[in-house]
Amino acid sequence: MNLLARAWDEAAEGYEAYFVPRFAPWVAAAVEAVPPLPDGPVLVPCCGTFPEAAPLLSRLGRREVVGIDLSPGMVRLARARVAGLAGVRVEVGDAAEPAGWADRCAGVVSVFGLQQLPAPDEAIATWVRALAPGGWLSVAFWPEVSEEDGPFALMRRVLDAMGGARSDRAWEGRLVEAIAGAGGEVVRDEFPAFAMEHRGAAECFTAYADSGPLRASALAKGPEFIERVKADFLAAAPEGPWRHTPRARLLVARRAR
Ligand SMILES: C[S@@+](CC[C@H](N)C(=O)[O-])C[C@H]1O[C@@H](n2cnc3c(N)ncnc32)[C@H](O)[C@@H]1O
Repeated sequence: MNLLARAWDEAAEGYEAYFVPRFAPWVAAAVEAVPPLPDGPVLVPCCGTFPEAAPLLSRLGRREVVGIDLSPGMVRLARARVAGLAGVRVEVGDAAEPAGWADRCAGVVSVFGLQQLPAPDEAIATWVRALAPGGWLSVAFWPEVSEEDGPFALMRRVLDAMGGARSDRAWEGRLVEAIAGAGGEVVRDEFPAFAMEHRGAAECFTAYADSGPLRASALAKGPEFIERVKADFLAAAPEGPWRHTPRARLLVARRAR
C-alpha cells in the first residue's frame, strides 16, 4: 500500500470525527452547485468517509452514486455510512484514473481530494471525460493559499520555515484549460469561505497531524519532525479558541460535447 493510502487509513476515524463536521459547508456547496440532472450515475472521486452521499441523493433523487477512494480504512467507514442508501456503493481505487467510466456519468462531484493527486489537471480532465454530454462536474479543493491568517496559514508558514520543499502548484492555473480541453465549459470558478472553530491550537495541531494532511508527512519524516513542527506551531499560535474562515476553490463545469 502506498504511503498516502496508509496515512489516510490511519487518519480515517479521526478525520471523520474532527474534519467531516467542520468541512460540511463545503460539501453542501459542492452538492448544491449541481443542477437537477438527467438519469445516470454520479461518481464521487476521493470520497473519504463519503459525506457527499446522502446530500447528493436528497438533491438529485435516487440513482447510482459511486464513491472511489484509495484508502481501505476510509472505504470501510464510507460503507458503514451508506449502508441502507439504495444505489450507493464505494470502491477502493485510484480516483485519478477511474476505470470504465468514460462518457457515462450524469455528474462527477469531488470534495478536498483533487489537491492530493499527483497530476490534478490531468485528473480533472479525466473526470470531465467521465461525464456523458450534458453532465455536470462540481469539484472543491484546497488552493495553495486558503487563508492569510489562521491555523492553515500558520501551518504553511511553519513548514516553509523548516525548509520543506513546497509542492508544485502550477496545476491550479491549468485547471480551466484542462476542463475545456476535455470538452467541458466552466460555469463557476469561486472561492467559498466558511467559518471553522477549534477549541485551541493544541487540539487543532493534533487533528492536523493525526487525522489530517500532516499524517503522510508524519509517516515519511518520523516523530521528531512532527515534534518540531508542533513546537513551532504552538509557539506562534494564539491562546484559546481559534476561529478562522478558510476559502476553498469550487469549479463547476458542464460537459458540452
Ligand atoms: C481530505 S479527504 C476528503 C474526503 C471527503 N471527500 C470529504 O470531503 O470529507 C481526501 C481523500 O482523498 C483520498 N485520496 C487521495 N488520493 C487519492 C487517489 N489517488 N485516489 C482516490 N482517493 C484518493 C484519501 O484517501 C482521502 O480519503
